[in-house]
Amino acid sequence: MNLLIDESTCIQCDRCVKVCPSEIFVKSESGIPAFQNIEFCIKCGHCVAVCPTNSVIHEAFPENKIHSFDRKELPTSEQLMLLLKSRRSRRIFTKEPVPEFFIDQILDAAHRAPTASNAQRVYFKVFSDPHDLQLISDYTIEIFTKIAKFLNFPLIKPFIKLFAPEVAKYVSGFKKMEDEYKSGKDIILRGATTVIFIYTTKNQYFGCADANLAYQNGSLMAETLGIGQFYTGFVLSALAQDKKGKLSKLLGVKGTIHAGMALGVPQLHFSKYIDRRDVIR
Ligand SMILES: Cc1cc2nc3c(=O)[nH]c(=O)nc-3n(C[C@H](O)[C@H](O)[C@H](O)COP(=O)(O)O)c2cc1C
Repeated sequence: MNLLIDESTCIQCDRCVKVCPSEIFVKSESGIPAFQNIEFCIKCGHCVAVCPTNSVIHEAFPENKIHSFDRKELPTSEQLMLLLKSRRSRRIFTKEPVPEFFIDQILDAAHRAPTASNAQRVYFKVFSDPHDLQLISDYTIEIFTKIAKFLNFPLIKPFIKLFAPEVAKYVSGFKKMEDEYKSGKDIILRGATTVIFIYTTKNQYFGCADANLAYQNGSLMAETLGIGQFYTGFVLSALAQDKKGKLSKLLGVKGTIHAGMALGVPQLHFSKYIDRRDVIR
């Protein structure tokens, strides 16, 4: 990997030495930082972003990938808090599609979330074809129906009630979900016109954390764009039960889906925010 310091402009401030999480930059007697263990570079770009004189020349960050910005232009803490307070899950959508440009911005925001070791191996699949959306809902209902059947089996039911009362509570909910679905009410996707699955390759140790951090970035961007979204927890639960990965195969997702966002143009907006329970610390 190519990593250099432009000695003619370096002011020897050692900022790169201080910020590098892999300790690749080291102080040297000459004053110009030296390098060690370059192979451990995680390409986070901190060295490039902190250098006041653009003296760190890093192969992964050519000039067109480095952008100056004014910290005064960041949202204030009050603005951010208002966004966090006003963001809500939306479940009532118009039939209008989510504009492509908005989806691009949501993905761009999601992709900027931190990832373990800066791996950036979080991937996105966007589904807006009604056939695919139907497939996702059908599949989820099918899995829940199977689970409900199993849990209602006469030899199983008493044990579930005894040993897993929480699960027993859900069984009647599964039945209701199935009945409603048959009558045309889809409480899985709730009329969303787009679904984004966030996935990683199989067995990626921090895959779930990486994907869900990406989700949250994306959901906040959706809120600022006036696009409604909710977390597709039912679909994720169904996926977790299905070891054969049927849905992923049907939709051509090669990996493990860790998060799902259902999106649509909301029919209405909330004009108030409510307080949550107090912070526990
Ligand atoms: C892990 C997880 C799973 C969720 N699953 C669903 C779901 O399947 N369907 C749904 O409508 N909302 C789902 N939600 C949204 C929550 O119900 C919602 O975030 C919560 O009620 C708080 O409301 P708010 O998002 O408007 O603040 C899920 C949220 C999370 C974090």
